[in-house]
Amino acid sequence: MEIVIRADEHEVATTVADIVGGYVRQGNAILGLATGSSPLGSYRELARRYRDGELDFTTASGFLLDEYVGLPKSHPQSYFSVIRSEFVDHVNLDPARVLSPNGEAGDIAGEGRRYDAAIAAAGGVDVQLLGIGTDGHIGFNEPGSSLTSRTRVKTLTEQTRRDNARFFDGPDDVPHHVLTQGLGTIREARHLVMIALGAGKADAIAAAAEGPLSAFCPASVMQWHPHVTVVIDEAAASKLK
Ligand code: F6R
Repeated sequence: MEIVIRADEHEVATTVADIVGGYVRQGNAILGLATGSSPLGSYRELARRYRDGELDFTTASGFLLDEYVGLPKSHPQSYFSVIRSEFVDHVNLDPARVLSPNGEAGDIAGEGRRYDAAIAAAGGVDVQLLGIGTDGHIGFNEPGSSLTSRTRVKTLTEQTRRDNARFFDGPDDVPHHVLTQGLGTIREARHLVMIALGAGKADAIAAAAEGPLSAFCPASVMQWHPHVTVVIDEAAASKLK
C-alpha cells in the first residue's frame, strides 16, 4: 500500500487526476466511480484536463460503487444523478457507459448479482476510486460486512445516515438502505485509490492502513490488495504512526 500525503485538497485532487488520467490515456479505461464529497475535487480536476484538451474519455466507461434503495434515479441525490452532475456532464464520457446499481429494481437481490456480472463482463474495473466513512466503511460496507461480500443490499448505520444528512433536507430524508458493491467485488478492481480529507477521517485512515485486517474496519481489506494508493491530506494523515 502506498500512502501519499498531500498538503491540501487541491494537491490531493491533482495526484488522483494524475493516476486516473494515466488509465484514461491508455484507452478503454474502466473507471470505478465513488460519490460523496471526497472525490469531488478530483472530478473537477479531471474535467479541467478534459476542457484543456489533455484527456479524452471517448473510450472510457464507469461503474458506480453504490446507490440508495428506493430513491428514484431522477432524485438529485441519487448517485445516478450525482455522478452525472458532478463528473460525467463535464467530460466527454458517454453517460450510457456509466452504470450504477438500480436501487429501484423489483428484484433487489437479483440486481446485485446482475451488477456484479456486468462488471465482470466488462473485464473488471481498472482503477477504483474510494472514499472512507468515519466508521471505516467503503462503498456502503458498514462495520461487520463480510470481507468476501458481493454487491447486495445493506442497511446504513445511524452514524452514516447522520454523516450523509448534509446532502438531504434533513436526517429523516436519508434512505435506510443501499445497494453496494461488496468488499469482495471492490477487491477485484486492479488498482484501488482511496481519497480522504480532513481530521474527521484520521481515525478511519489509521485503522484502515495500520490497524488489524478486520470486518470491524471494512476499509482494512485494502491491506489484502496488491495495488493500493491512499491519497490524503495532512489532517487525514494525522493519526498515522
Ligand atoms: C460513496 C461511498 C461512500 C463514501 C463515504 C465517504 O459512493 O461509497 O463510501 O465514499 O461515505 O463519504 P464522503 O466522501 O462524503 O466523506
